[in-house]
Amino acid sequence: MTKEVLMTGKSRYVNPFKPTAGMTPPVLIGRDSVIDDFIDGMDEGPGAPGRLLRITGPRGSGKTVLLTELGGIASDRGWTVINVSGKEALCQSIQEQLAANARLKSLDIRISVPFISAEAHLGNAQTEIGFRESFSSVVRALTKKGSGLLIAIDEVQDASPDDMAVLATNVQYMIREQQNIALLFAGITTGVLNLLNGEGITFLRRARAEELGSIPVDEVAAAMKETIEASGLRIADDALSYAAETTHGYAYLIQMVGYYVWRAGRRHVSSSNLIMLDDAKRGCAEALREFGSSVLGTALAGLTRPAMEYLFAMTKDSAASATSTVAGRMGIPPQNANTYRRMLIDRQIIERTAPGYVAFSIPFMRDYLIENKDEILSRYGG
Ligand SMILES: Nc1ncnc2c1ncn2[C@@H]1O[C@H](COP(=O)(O)OP(=O)(O)OP(=O)(O)O)[C@@H](O)[C@H]1O
Ligand SMILES: [Mg+2]
Repeated sequence: MTKEVLMTGKSRYVNPFKPTAGMTPPVLIGRDSVIDDFIDGMDEGPGAPGRLLRITGPRGSGKTVLLTELGGIASDRGWTVINVSGKEALCQSIQEQLAANARLKSLDIRISVPFISAEAHLGNAQTEIGFRESFSSVVRALTKKGSGLLIAIDEVQDASPDDMAVLATNVQYMIREQQNIALLFAGITTGVLNLLNGEGITFLRRARAEELGSIPVDEVAAAMKETIEASGLRIADDALSYAAETTHGYAYLIQMVGYYVWRAGRRHVSSSNLIMLDDAKRGCAEALREFGSSVLGTALAGLTRPAMEYLFAMTKDSAASATSTVAGRMGIPPQNANTYRRMLIDRQIIERTAPGYVAFSIPFMRDYLIENKDEILSRYGG
């Protein structure tokens, strides 16, 4: 078979959607204003508000992808970018990455890593001094060369408050010295707010807040259409509206729905490259099924029975639930119900929408619970 023959048919079309955590999507939808803020911050110089940014949102709302995008912008401008997760030992990881950074080496900026090998023998104060020395020497040297340092922290809700306090203090020193430093931190909304309420990091509360809520459905539709057409397929207007509506403007679902709708259309590409309403319906059903098992099912895994009953009590309301009503349905005193409510909020399954009211924080959670009630309860013995 010649190469030309192999290239025809379905294999010529590659699914452009990226329903994978942390994967940069084909079109970054709805982020223009935060990107503009950040670019302005880069241009305005030391101390600009756009250089200190807090990104919050539920699971799958696009926090990691946004950090990657902003890091890329800084990197394109010659800045050194250090990515770190709150799940790691924050300051230590930053210091190690600075020591190993190729760009810093090429600029002849070398740092010592005093406490890592001798960690066990050093007290906290010395560890902090070691961090401060290497951090400030890098930032000063970079600023002198006309560039700067960006620290991007993901999953910050899991960070140690002590590490965050040390980092915040050092960033603040550098800003006061008019050095080129930027700090972006991203995490689950409630966890980040809890962290910011801790001592020693009051400075971080001043960070510009970007909450990643749902993206307007018309922007979703425009981006889906563009992505589908760039891949060589087309989509009918009614199919496009159906698919865009199904995403509810939720970043993860945009990719999931796009992926399966595109795949339904590709099946008949040899006769027509137009995605029809039927394809969209079939693709959306597949996307929601996959979303249910991978996202919703995972979020619910390991909950205690009363926490699960709290959720089932909430499914009776079509919008937000009054916490007192939920406790009444469970037949327990409101104080007891509060324990489960707090735990469910911490896990980002529900959120407080107003004093005394909660709602599900992940789209389709209510439908998922109702549809799978028997199966879920059977895990707890019926
Ligand atoms: N602005 C966007 N437009 C379109 N798709 C997006 C956008 N942002 C993220 N996505 C897609 O959404 C999915 C989730 O993105 P990402 O992993 O960044 O979310 P997250 O908020 O970091 O989630 P988690 O809390 O689980 O870490 C990915 O498939 C990604 O491609
Ligand atoms: Mg993430």
